[in-house]
Amino acid sequence: INRIAVITSGGDAPGMNAAVRAVVLTAENYGIEVVGFRHGYEGVLTNDYIKLGRESVEHILQYSGTIIKSARSERFKTDDGGREAAENLDAHQIDGFIVIGGDGSFRGADHLAKFWQGPIIGVPGTIDNDLYGTDNTIGYDTAVETAMDALDKIRDTAEAMDRVFIVEVMGRNAGYIGISSAMACGSERMILPELQKDKPLTVDALVKHIEGVHRVRGDSSYVMVLCENQWPGGAVRLAEQLEDRLNFPCRPCLLGHVQRGGRPTAMDRILATRLGVHAVELIRSGETGVMAGISRNELCTTPLQDTWMQRKQLSQELIDIQTKLFNPVKKERHKA
Ligand code: F6P
Repeated sequence: INRIAVITSGGDAPGMNAAVRAVVLTAENYGIEVVGFRHGYEGVLTNDYIKLGRESVEHILQYSGTIIKSARSERFKTDDGGREAAENLDAHQIDGFIVIGGDGSFRGADHLAKFWQGPIIGVPGTIDNDLYGTDNTIGYDTAVETAMDALDKIRDTAEAMDRVFIVEVMGRNAGYIGISSAMACGSERMILPELQKDKPLTVDALVKHIEGVHRVRGDSSYVMVLCENQWPGGAVRLAEQLEDRLNFPCRPCLLGHVQRGGRPTAMDRILATRLGVHAVELIRSGETGVMAGISRNELCTTPLQDTWMQRKQLSQELIDIQTKLFNPVKKERHKA
């Protein structure tokens, strides 16, 4: 192995830079050159690349975003796109390919494998934490910290004014950011994809719950975490629907892309570093078509296809705890 390529692809995630750095430094230790194609698969198609050496990755691990940029490429998904990408990799004499991204990026890796014979390794980088085969994905921990920070701030104003807040968090179709931030902030309710699909919550049920909590607590705030794509019209519509039925103001708050930025947490930097090193070691040992992941704090590998074909299960224990804590206390609070 003389030269490997690395891309960051799909939605960027805090810690991607730390993973790129680890790939470059590890490769350099083995005398392997690293080429970074910019803007994900799109850069492979357009030959938009930079050589990455120690000096290019110094002091980048504390920043989110990605120095080699990221993108989603429609053109690459076609057979012509796959073929062209393979030809370009060969023209650059690439002996191994590392893709840092989420499930869409790994599907891309699978597509590339149909046209290119070199070793391909995936590194899980997405705030959604929705990849089977790794306990955590790079960026998830930072996104939860960001959501937690925002929820704490929302609580301050909600509590001051006895308001209901619906805070919408990202996660695509998974409730990892939702449940973790809800638990970390003691939110009164959460709307998660994993629960919505079996027993969807209704406006009636939510109104009943909010009224129950108010009856028991008296004047108080009520903060609900809503996972994106789980309510028609999102937090804005739900806040309107609740306000129509309740006697107090309900406000929406969409956290959106702030969850993808900010300083990566120590956990994400360390995870990204471990997985970046792991990816290079896997290429050197002849592995291909796998994701470098982490399970019970040990490095592991999972076939790329399993990462999106198998569903990673949200912890039932966490769901049970949260569901119990949400229920309004049946009795009046003990008065001192
Ligand atoms: O996959 C990461 C993610 O941030 C999801 O949580 C979200 O649904 C999506 O990307 C947003 O994508 P875009 O940045 O293209 O709007």
